[in-house]
Amino acid sequence: MTARISVIGTGYLGATHAAGMAELGFEVIGVDTDAAKIRSLSAGTVPFYEPGLPELLSKHVAAGALRFSTSIEEAAEFADVHFVCVGTPQTPGGAADLSYLHAVIDALVPRLTRNCLIVGKSTVPVGTAEALATRIEALTPAGVTVELAWNPEFLREGHAVFDTLHPNRLVFGVTTPGAEWELRQVYATPIAEGAPVVVTNLPTAELVKVSANAFLATKISFINAMAELCSITGADVTLLADALGHDDRIGRKFLGAGLGYGGGCLPKDVKALIARAEELGAGESVEFLHGIEGVNQRRRDTVVTETLAALDRKDDRAYGRVAVLGAAFKPLSDDVRESPALEVAKRLHDAGALVTVYDPEASVPARSVAPQLRYAASVEAALRKADVVLHLTEWQEFRELDPVWVGELTAGRVIIDARNVLDPEPWLAAGWNFKTLGRLVEPAAAAVPSRDRVESA
Ligand code: UDX
Repeated sequence: MTARISVIGTGYLGATHAAGMAELGFEVIGVDTDAAKIRSLSAGTVPFYEPGLPELLSKHVAAGALRFSTSIEEAAEFADVHFVCVGTPQTPGGAADLSYLHAVIDALVPRLTRNCLIVGKSTVPVGTAEALATRIEALTPAGVTVELAWNPEFLREGHAVFDTLHPNRLVFGVTTPGAEWELRQVYATPIAEGAPVVVTNLPTAELVKVSANAFLATKISFINAMAELCSITGADVTLLADALGHDDRIGRKFLGAGLGYGGGCLPKDVKALIARAEELGAGESVEFLHGIEGVNQRRRDTVVTETLAALDRKDDRAYGRVAVLGAAFKPLSDDVRESPALEVAKRLHDAGALVTVYDPEASVPARSVAPQLRYAASVEAALRKADVVLHLTEWQEFRELDPVWVGELTAGRVIIDARNVLDPEPWLAAGWNFKTLGRLVEPAAAAVPSRDRVESA
């Protein structure tokens, strides 16, 4: 049985994967060129916010099943299976930057001393794996057999530990039965628990990841486009989503209308898919994705415009105070990459509003990318004297706010619930002007007889 695994690249994906592999019973080494990250992980500390990961990681570091190093040589000597989890960041043109991936292959392969399997987990443009296989062949030392497989990762931030240990599907892009066998050994536990396995070739495995994320982005932008129509017709997008979702061909998930998608994956993967399709002369096939991006961007524009309209502009520049609740791209995360909340906050600041941001976990990373904004240490401090309150990331803490208490702190009583999840009734009862993005909250809505309402899924 495969016993020894290396995970190369210990960022968000790699650190979680390394801890997950140790939990599945393997001996694991995690490797990264960032010495500070390796020091932190070796001490059992996770340098980002992910519920459950610090416990899992420190348990296996303490037990000796998981260790971290900056030496790729150590990984080359140690492991039978090497998972490559390095980042493939976006270039200014939208394409993926593969330089970290190439650097790993160039450093690892010439140092290999025994037969092994290299498994790509990074999200890459379709066609990358086949090109890497050629590169690997050219670099492989004599007498050693090295194979390449692709095994995309679908974990969600905030649920990364669960998703790693209980994947909802496993995709193996392989070129030989031996590589499939090896991957089935690695994932024997989730497979025994019923995780479906799709065995395919390298390009299909690469495409699954970006197309899954492009599809999720499409669902979100679809419902947000409907939200735009709801706003001008008096229809209610949340009930519309419930009604659509009862059709199991559609499904209720990812029909949460609001401020739109952000994060390290959806925006980047949509752009990378467009860029790669254009490179392949197939731009027309994904032309619709430009529309998906357009809807997503308009959500942010709408919140900025509505906030400025709601603010009492004091003179040519000063727009008054805005309390921004949320900086992370979604709750249960401290990730601010492509965060819709932070973009709205920055644009309001640029327009002349006095913006104070509060996020339970993401203030430190937010401050490092948007130092021009004010950050409050508590929700109370952010709300004090605000003219307008923006609910931009739906942390549980914000859902539990008492509108009467909030109203005692703020100067004005205008709130925009840009995630469409707060209960409007107590806010309306406390005298708030409660604005949404396509959700009907007029008191008249409450008068609709309950039998005409659709139960939520
Ligand atoms: C995503 C994919 O879900 C995951 O499978 C992949 O491995 C990585 O990319 P993640 O980026 O962690 O995961 O976030 P996700 O939960 O998918 O949310 C993405 C964005 O969409 C967030 O900004 C979220 O607020 C937004 N969203 C999600 C909506 O606006 N509405 C919804 O109904 C769902």
